[in-house]
Amino acid sequence: MTTITLMDLEALKEQAALAALDEVRSGMCLGLGTGSTVAWLLRGLGAKLRSGSLKDITGVPTSERTVAQCRAEGIPLVALESRQWLDIAIDGADEVDPQLNLVKGLGGALLREKMVASIARRFVVIADHTKDVPRLGTRSPVPVEVVPFAWRSHLPFFESLGARPLPRAGQTGDLQLTDNGNVIVDLHFANGISDVAALAAALDLRPGVVEHGLFLGMCARAIFATPEGVRSRPA
Ligand code: A5P
Repeated sequence: MTTITLMDLEALKEQAALAALDEVRSGMCLGLGTGSTVAWLLRGLGAKLRSGSLKDITGVPTSERTVAQCRAEGIPLVALESRQWLDIAIDGADEVDPQLNLVKGLGGALLREKMVASIARRFVVIADHTKDVPRLGTRSPVPVEVVPFAWRSHLPFFESLGARPLPRAGQTGDLQLTDNGNVIVDLHFANGISDVAALAAALDLRPGVVEHGLFLGMCARAIFATPEGVRSRPA
């Protein structure tokens, strides 16, 4: 078996990100995701803006982290409320299944990511090949963002859905709050999720749940970088 180092993974993330930039044209407004793969996208986008090979690009960021990197790269930003639609949104993912359903949100930005992706004419995911899974919930938990009020009251409900819920804590052990001031509970499934649509529907209906990391039927294309080269689904 080939061992993949962290450095290898970073190189793969860069390849996926650069492949997605081929879809970007001057004048576009882009939804810009969050995470270590998107960090490579922002580096590449910044370089293309500086070289002049892309012009008149604006971005809608999905997190404060992405805002900070865009500022450092000189990528012009606009607010989501100023846009009815976006040409394309590009983001990472934690898992991608064969139908291009996703788990997202290990980086904690799932709410803004889903809002941005939902108004994009095209939503493209970039990832290394380890995120390509036969079944969602097998390598990653499903993050659920809940309002801080009575957040513990959701735990029995999550257990009733077959999950082992773990509130996300920061390095000091305190609850880690999202950019929106909410709590994240990660739902772990021992053998993956048998019915993702039913799980998403149950979470959608729960008062106090703001958003969850199941992105179903949203992704138009997934670009995976593998040690054998970049592949895309659909091709
Ligand atoms: C951020 O909230 C997430 O949805 C990320 O898009 C996802 O966790 C992928 O991140 P990496 O590219 O860092 O793996």
